[in-house]
Amino acid sequence: MEPVIPDLRAIPRADAYAQLAALQALLLDDRTDAIAGMATVSALLHHAFGHLWTGFYRVVEPGRLLRVGPYQGSLGCQEITFGRGVCGTAAAEGRTVVVEDVHAFPGHIACDPRSQSEIVVPVFDQHGALMAVLDIDSAVPAAFGDADRDGLADLVAWFARASYVPVPA
Ligand code: SME
Repeated sequence: MEPVIPDLRAIPRADAYAQLAALQALLLDDRTDAIAGMATVSALLHHAFGHLWTGFYRVVEPGRLLRVGPYQGSLGCQEITFGRGVCGTAAAEGRTVVVEDVHAFPGHIACDPRSQSEIVVPVFDQHGALMAVLDIDSAVPAAFGDADRDGLADLVAWFARASYVPVPA
């Protein structure tokens, strides 16, 4: 049986991410399938923190197009162009974007009207190429900070060891 995902909302974020990293290692350390990794990381984060939407947009056309991948939550939009919205900005610039108030972010793509804040983290493959972004939306304003930035970067470092089998376009 798979382990139960703990509710980590009440403990300091850095400690919470340390627990998730240990769970991720238990579940994924002997594995290399990137899609299985995306599904597992989405489930861990979503249920540990009670986020609104947690998942991946995959690079299907480098420098141009993201397409939705494994996620947890309500429906996400299918495709996002590089440079559009929070995800497209993080992809185009290859950096983490933290948005305290999505209503104040120019071009924010509203997939769920309950979303108040967001963090998007780039995911790089073993060659250092951008393969996806990890997108998390929260119904809580300003839900994300430096501990999330660091903890999530640590979790997605796993993908630099994964073997990515692209889904046919
Ligand atoms: N809000 C994101 C779009 C993706 S959904 O929220 C799942 C953005 O602005 O890129």
